[in-house]
Amino acid sequence: MRLTRCQAALAAAITLNLLVLIYVSWLQHQPRHSRGRGSWRASAASGPRVTVLVREFETFDNALPELVDSLLQQDPAQPVVVVADSLPYPPLALPRIPNVRLALLQPTLDRPAAASRPQTYVNTEFVALVPDGTRAETPGQLERMVEALRQGNARLVAAPVATANPARCLALNVSLREWTAHYSAAPTAPRCDALDGDAVVLLRARDLFNLSVPLARPLGTSLFLQTALRGWAVHLLDWPFAAARQPPLGTAHARWKAEREGRARRAALLRALGIRLVSWEGGRLEWFGCGKETARCFGTVVGDTPSYLYEGRWTPPCCLRALRETARYVVGVLEAAGVRYWLEGGSLLGAARHGDIIPWDYDVDLGIYLEDVGNCEQLRGAEAGSVVDERGFVWEKAVEGDFFRVQYSESNHLHVDLWPFYPRNGVMTKDTWLDHRQDVEFPEHFLQPLVPLAFAGFMAQAPNNYRRFLELKFGPGVIENPEYPNPALLSLSGSR
Ligand SMILES: *[C@@H]1O[C@H](CO)[C@@H](O)[C@H](O)[C@H]1NC(C)=O
Ligand SMILES: *[C@@H]1O[C@H](CO)[C@@H](O)[C@H](O)[C@H]1NC(C)=O
Repeated sequence: MRLTRCQAALAAAITLNLLVLIYVSWLQHQPRHSRGRGSWRASAASGPRVTVLVREFETFDNALPELVDSLLQQDPAQPVVVVADSLPYPPLALPRIPNVRLALLQPTLDRPAAASRPQTYVNTEFVALVPDGTRAETPGQLERMVEALRQGNARLVAAPVATANPARCLALNVSLREWTAHYSAAPTAPRCDALDGDAVVLLRARDLFNLSVPLARPLGTSLFLQTALRGWAVHLLDWPFAAARQPPLGTAHARWKAEREGRARRAALLRALGIRLVSWEGGRLEWFGCGKETARCFGTVVGDTPSYLYEGRWTPPCCLRALRETARYVVGVLEAAGVRYWLEGGSLLGAARHGDIIPWDYDVDLGIYLEDVGNCEQLRGAEAGSVVDERGFVWEKAVEGDFFRVQYSESNHLHVDLWPFYPRNGVMTKDTWLDHRQDVEFPEHFLQPLVPLAFAGFMAQAPNNYRRFLELKFGPGVIENPEYPNPALLSLSGSR
């Protein structure tokens, strides 16, 4: 058989069509295969997975240019965001390239709100918080930290920086209810709750930006208080970062200035986060709450229910401490003057339960014999007007009724109330009553004799048979069943 030219051309066209079809179909399948095979290559090609956030540095003396240069030497495309509250002065010498940016957290009138949110500047899945004084020398170290984070079960991984103060692992217990942060040696190191010292910390960006205050300074303090509260662990890896060759804060003056500002920042942060007492391994305590010179840290109490109870918190530790100090002082004055007194109301209840002020109570109550008031110079003075004694305590007759009040100081109105009773036919009574369940008459035999009872760190006088005394005043089972002062407004069980 012979093919005509026309038939040959037709055959060629059909063959070409077939080839094109096969090729197109091959092309359609091809990319899926190649994506499957080379996924790590694809993500490496799509750029770094970590944004470096530099937050901890001083504007007046830092080694940020060296840090940023060392990062860019490892990877010229490394995203770096330097985070400051306001425009640093003197200005930072940063390379003018798109992957190095400055984020200013303080809003200004001319910028949109997003400009002051650091997450606006982060497009990667992970962030590394890198302190000033660090130098990147090992290629791929951030990527290795990412792998350690993905493979481990800690929410954060960290690498120490080889400065004079490299990071170490700590256990940290934060109690919002008690306003406390308790640091101790980490029994489970290198897995821990917090770090003390210089470290590069890596975590998922969505975790960082879901914290209450992601980048508050000092960053280590604020970060680990928040992550420990959420139960997130940090794994301290054994791959140190190098320290800067020209470390920041090289002069004594710069160090002094940085330390002073650091302390002020830390105190402001802890107050803002509602931590009033920090305790360290070894028992050292740091107080951040009210003192003799400040106002009381809660306002006027309405309905027997102080404001902090509505926030799910108990009496701030600084207030408990001031109440203990005032109670001990007042009892000392009364005993020296020969004024018979006894623990009353909630204070007796606390003493009976656990030898201390009830952890949510806001004052101390003592009963006294009215006929003994004249024995005490301060109480005589208070009858005439308010008296500030040589220790700074303020004695006065309370405006609300016939009782005395001793305040911690003129500015801090934490107080001990003294309720004068007198005996009438074997019953202790008084002339004015407040609308409190426990404010009732009682048989004098509870005071004959008075008995010593531990309270607030000293031995106080209490009614004998104080269990019956308390049940007479508050009702049966009151010692075993703690309750807030005004359960109709807020009850202990309801707030749990
Ligand atoms: C920290 O809290 C945990 C859990 O509440 C507790 O078991 C542990 O004893 C606390 N540690 C310290 C040092 O207070
Ligand atoms: C953010 O935190 C809240 C709890 O604090 C949690 O319920 C939520 O899932 C978190 N969101 C992300 C994106 O992790």
